[in-house]
Amino acid sequence: MVNSSELEALVNDSKPKHVAIIMDGNGRWAEQRGKIRVKGHHEGVKSVRQVVSSALTMGIESLTLFAFSSENWRRPEAEVSVLMKLFMTVLTREVKKLHKNQIRLKIIGDVSAFSPAIQAKITEAETLTRNNTKLILNIAANYGGQSDIANAAKQIAIAVKTGAVSIDEIDDKMLGQHIAMADQAAVDLMIRTGGDHRISNFLLWQLAYAELLFTDTLWPDFDSAAFEDAIFNFVNRERRFGGTGAQIRAILTKQQ
Ligand code: IPE
Ligand code: IPE
Ligand code: MG
Repeated sequence: MVNSSELEALVNDSKPKHVAIIMDGNGRWAEQRGKIRVKGHHEGVKSVRQVVSSALTMGIESLTLFAFSSENWRRPEAEVSVLMKLFMTVLTREVKKLHKNQIRLKIIGDVSAFSPAIQAKITEAETLTRNNTKLILNIAANYGGQSDIANAAKQIAIAVKTGAVSIDEIDDKMLGQHIAMADQAAVDLMIRTGGDHRISNFLLWQLAYAELLFTDTLWPDFDSAAFEDAIFNFVNRERRFGGTGAQIRAILTKQQ
């Protein structure tokens, strides 16, 4: 028999430390309402706010959101341009709030392809929030999982060339140290909204041991409750520790 404080400790121990999300379905959300696709992207920002706020409440260490893939440049120019503007607006408007909540913002991906204005905002935001420890919010922008691995290989090749590393020393552990977010907890839960069951070149290396959760809910409909359900199911999948589902939910959403 576990008592309630033991139950709390058990639930908190089995909470995912790092959750990654492919935020998909914005376009379809808008189309279903007879609106233009970009309306869905605007609406999706509300879901981002809710999920970030819930992650903070639940005491998750890292949250990684796929905002723009390296393949998304192939979209019509007008849509890419709206997404860039939105990225810029969010970086300008929301960073203060992130900082106030002690959230550290990190952008993963090749930021050199973005405009100088966006790059400057990214540097500013990362610098402002760099010592925050409540939650690390990683935004994957112009990110590709395959490029991430290729970059790691390139860095090791350079080290071999300079003689700092010998070929025999190269192993999965070393490669892993050069992959994005190597300094953070391993991803233990990956959620994809929007009904498709694929990775779309998001985190590849980092998902080696992650639980994968695919939901039909379109991203703009994915709110705090949906996110909390996903975390609850992750914890509950392990075992109930003798507690009820309601007790586990209450512990998870108790302010950390
Ligand atoms: C995901 O929603 C957001 C981005 C890729 C930026 P989509 O725009 O892919 O929406 P669907 O999948 O077409 O509905
Ligand atoms: C994945 O969604 C990328 C992001 C959510 C940023 P996509 O809609 O671009 O992926 P595909 O085209 O369905 O593979
Ligand atoms: Mg999509």
